[in-house]
Amino acid sequence: MLSAVERKIEQFVTALNDKEVISLYAKLPHGKRLRAKLILKIAGTSLSAVKTAAIVEMIHAASLLHDDVLDDADTRRSQPSLNALYGNKTAIMLGDILYSKGFFELNNISAEVAKIVSNAVTQLSLGELKDVSLSRRFNTDKEIYLEMIYQKTASLIEASAGAAAVLAGKPKEPYMTYGRNLGLAFQMIDDMLDITSDAVTLGKPALHDFVEGKTTLPYIYLYDVLDTAGKERLASLHGRVLDTDAQNWIKVHMEEKQILLKCYAQAKELIEEAVELMNSHGETSLSDIALEMIERDF
Ligand code: IPE
Ligand code: IPE
Ligand code: MG
Ligand code: MG
Ligand code: MG
Repeated sequence: MLSAVERKIEQFVTALNDKEVISLYAKLPHGKRLRAKLILKIAGTSLSAVKTAAIVEMIHAASLLHDDVLDDADTRRSQPSLNALYGNKTAIMLGDILYSKGFFELNNISAEVAKIVSNAVTQLSLGELKDVSLSRRFNTDKEIYLEMIYQKTASLIEASAGAAAVLAGKPKEPYMTYGRNLGLAFQMIDDMLDITSDAVTLGKPALHDFVEGKTTLPYIYLYDVLDTAGKERLASLHGRVLDTDAQNWIKVHMEEKQILLKCYAQAKELIEEAVELMNSHGETSLSDIALEMIERDF
């Protein structure tokens, strides 16, 4: 049924009746469509569910267009990013167009769904702003990191699950908790993949976060366990282009201190908690999608 979502997105974009936008959107690769899958899995395949999934994927695409501008990223979904191809101005405006079209279409779903999703987009934007602000210094505070990733990533996944539950006439709270846990684990894994994977597999730049000043969970944990000289070296590399020596130093120390195992265990715990919660509501089929969120290599 994902194909119905693809068709619906195409309809929404075509309805904008603008050749430039239609052609720009057609150039964007689709991505994994995890949020759409989650919505259909919870809400079924009614027209409202398909529309909500399409809207959420449009909103997500908009957030990535802006994110690549914020992160100076020149690759997305294994292709040159839109900002790399056409510049920041085009990427920002296409993002705004997708966001606002998404909000417009939300009004045709229901007031409650519109409220849940639009509130998440405010959170997402607050989180992205926080991410930018935090990257100016070496953040060693895990709680601040967790709050930021909740806002920038988990909020939209939480809202997807909540909106889907509302559409299906199910109680929204447990589904939102499930989505929140999935979202937090998802971003933790994304932050780990930036370190463990390569750009080709990821379809976006690797080892790029620290260069951009982002002290993600693995860096926070590594900093915690390094000796004074190690702490100084790591802090001195923050926000700089890393030569091979520096890249290796980071990877060797992450390995030696078993940092990624520790991060993975934390993500896994969130996923297990989410799966158990859903199982207790008789939703055993929601465990696959939860595992898909963490057992991935891009
Ligand atoms: C990327 O999300 C942004 C993050 C929240 C880490 P996805 O990995 O779901 O992106 P696509 O849609 O599959 O490309
Ligand atoms: C998530 O953060 C982006 C959004 C929530 C829009 P990242 O900046 O880590 O995402 P990627 O790695 O570029 O996909
Ligand atoms: Mg990014
Ligand atoms: Mg970012
Ligand atoms: Mg990332």
